[in-house]
Amino acid sequence: MSVNLSQVIFSYDSSRKARINGEYYLKVDNLTINDTNEFIAIVGHTGSGKSTLTHLLNRLLVPAKGKLVVDEKEITKRSKLLPIRKKVGLVFQFPEYQLFEDTVIKDISFGPKNFKLDNPEALAMDAMKIMGITNLKDRNPFTLSGGQMRKVAIAGILASKPDILVLDEPTVGLDSVSKEELLEFLKDLNENKHISIILITHDMEVVTKYCKRAIVLKKGNILYDGDSLELFKDEKLIEDAHLDYPHLTRVMLELKKKYNLDIDPYKFDAHSAFLELEKALIKGEAHE
Ligand SMILES: Nc1ncnc2c1ncn2[C@@H]1O[C@H](COP(=O)(O)OP(=O)(O)OP(=O)(O)O)[C@@H](O)[C@H]1O
Ligand SMILES: [Mg+2]
Repeated sequence: MSVNLSQVIFSYDSSRKARINGEYYLKVDNLTINDTNEFIAIVGHTGSGKSTLTHLLNRLLVPAKGKLVVDEKEITKRSKLLPIRKKVGLVFQFPEYQLFEDTVIKDISFGPKNFKLDNPEALAMDAMKIMGITNLKDRNPFTLSGGQMRKVAIAGILASKPDILVLDEPTVGLDSVSKEELLEFLKDLNENKHISIILITHDMEVVTKYCKRAIVLKKGNILYDGDSLELFKDEKLIEDAHLDYPHLTRVMLELKKKYNLDIDPYKFDAHSAFLELEKALIKGEAHE
């Protein structure tokens, strides 16, 4: 099953003037997210509409025009929102917006309680174990560090076991060990539990290492929706969307250009890039 947005136009400005001028903050002709096995990166310049898009996916925002269809049912003004919030779990860009209880355990059990799942506290404890924060159980969330708050916020969404887990720049504020652990954990969830993951990220290494599909936004428009590696082969698109290349790709592209090397620069892991360069070096020696 899936979540689909079609012919959606959304604006934060609902004034008559904005409507007459056709101003919008996000426009989506057609976007489908499957509820299993997806690992999607949403990328784009700051202010391009990444967070807005994810808020439309679980009906935190209601578009002026267009449809949201969840599991083949259209979400209307009269639809109950609890099932879609359960299906699409969203970890906010700013975790403190998500926390509100006076202890971590209460905060994390809130979702499972709200969705009337069995044994909310046990689900909360499981999620805390996964995030390695059981020691924070009785702390007040507002006294935690930024990175700890982020982990609590992620555990709070995980505890409700969504089909589609959306994380808005989840590694910001985490140290490199926690960052790696979180990404590996998401990979494991995706591969072994088949949960769909959507990550908003500015980190192109994360896109090539973890994501299968990438959605590129520019000024509220989807410029690209496709394979996450193929994306970097489109130089014009990368420039147009103001995206970075992964560091390795930048080095490969520069080496290819400067030394006119006969290599495929689109090798996204260090070992494949090494082999590609080695091949060119050996060929070079043979020519001498
Ligand atoms: N609550 C709001 N009210 C009015 N305008 C908003 C609101 N939230 C976002 N915007 C505007 O909508 C546009 C898209 O914002 P959004 O937060 O979706 O961007 P983003 O791609 O997530 O950016 P970033 O990488 O900085 O998080 C921006 O121009 C932003 O200023
Ligand atoms: Mg954002």
